[in-house]
Amino acid sequence: MSAVPIEVVERGESRCFTSDNTAGGAPEVIAALAAAACGQAPPYGTDSWTLSARRRFSEIFDCDVDLLPVSTGSAANALSLAALTPPWGSVLCHRDSHINNDECGAPEFFTGGAKLVALGGENAKIDADELQAAVHRKVGDVHSVQPSVLGLTQATETGAVYSPAEIKHLACIAKQAGLRVHMDGARLANAVAALGCHPAELTWSAGVDVLSFGAIKNGSITADAIVVFDRSLTTELSFRAKRAGQLAAKMRFAAAQLDAYLADDLWLRNARHANAMTARLEEGLKSISGTRLAGTPEANIIFCRLPQQVIDGLLDQGFGFYHGRWEPGVVRFVTSFATTTHDVDELIHAVRRLTAAAIEESRSKRARTQRSAGGRRSELARIGRVR
Ligand SMILES: Cc1ncc(COP(=O)(O)O)c(C=O)c1O
Repeated sequence: MSAVPIEVVERGESRCFTSDNTAGGAPEVIAALAAAACGQAPPYGTDSWTLSARRRFSEIFDCDVDLLPVSTGSAANALSLAALTPPWGSVLCHRDSHINNDECGAPEFFTGGAKLVALGGENAKIDADELQAAVHRKVGDVHSVQPSVLGLTQATETGAVYSPAEIKHLACIAKQAGLRVHMDGARLANAVAALGCHPAELTWSAGVDVLSFGAIKNGSITADAIVVFDRSLTTELSFRAKRAGQLAAKMRFAAAQLDAYLADDLWLRNARHANAMTARLEEGLKSISGTRLAGTPEANIIFCRLPQQVIDGLLDQGFGFYHGRWEPGVVRFVTSFATTTHDVDELIHAVRRLTAAAIEESRSKRARTQRSAGGRRSELARIGRVR
C-alpha cells in the first residue's frame, strides 16, 4: 500500500499526460523479454544479453563503457553518487532536480550522508556563476562538507536541454576544482533527439564520469542503467549495486530490455516521437487565447498556465496531469513514445472548449454584474426623482 494517496489510472487510459512513465513497454522490448524467457542462462549479469547490451552502449557512446542494469532511476542516481563522493562530500545540483526533491533522501542515504547543495538557474539548468562560487565554498574547512560532485540532469526537470557546450562549461568548472561529474539521464534520449548531436558530446567527452541512463520512460519496462565512463569506478559500483539489491539473479531480463531498446535506434525513434508529441501540443496550446506556456519546451515536457475552471474540466473529463504543485494555475503535461496524435489533439480540443466556456462564463458574469449595477443606479435615480 502506498503511504500517500495516489491517483488510480484505469487500465488502457490514454488521456494520461502525467508522466512518460505511464506508458507501457515498446513492442520490441516485450518481444525481447519473451525471447529471453526461453531456456536457461547464466545469472547475475554473466549472460549474453548483458554482454550484448554493454557492447551496444559502447558503440552508441563511442567509448568502452561498463554497464550496470538497475531497476529504477533513483537506484541509478543514488548508487552513482555514492561511488563519486565521500560521506563528507557534497553534491552540487539544481534546486529543482529529481535527486534533490524526489528520491526520498536516497542519495544522502546511499552516499552515507553526503549533503545535496541546491543551486539556482533558469529552466532547471545550473547557473554557471553559482556553480563557480559553490565549488570553492569552504574547501579544506573541516567543519564543512567538501564539494565533491556536480549533478546534472539532461533533459532537465522542466523539459529544457543543456547544449554540449553548456555541459562542457559546467563540467569544466567542476573538474578544475577537483569535483567528479554525474548526469541523471532519465531523459537523455529526449535530449539527444532534440539536439541531434552525438551522445558522446553530451556525456563523457564533455566531462561526465557516470551516467544514469533512463530507459523506463521511453520503452523499457523495468530496466534503467548505470553507464560507467570512468571505469576505475566499476568495481566499487558493482559491490554497491549488490549491497543495494540491484544485482539481479535473472539479469538477462533487464539486459534483454536494454539490448532491444538500443537496437536499431529504438531509443532515439521513441524519443523523437515523444518530443514531436510535445511540439504538437505546444503548437495547439499556443493557438488558444487564455493559455500561457511557461518556457519553451525542448524535449517532451511542457508547462503551462490554465484557468482553474479549465484544469477542473480537464480532470473531470479524465485527463491526467500534474497540477497544484507549482504556482496556482500551472500544470505539467508529459508525452511519451506511446502518446498518439489523437491523444494530443483530444487534449488540445478539450482545452480549447473549456477555455472558451470559461471566457464566455466570465463575460456573462461581467454583463450580469454590469446589468445589476445599472439596475441599482436607475433604481436610485428613480428614488431620487420621487423624492
Ligand atoms: C529527472 C528524473 N530522474 C530520475 C527519475 C527516476 O525515477 P524512478 O526512481 O521513479 O525511476 C525520474 C522519474 O521521474 C526523473 O524524472
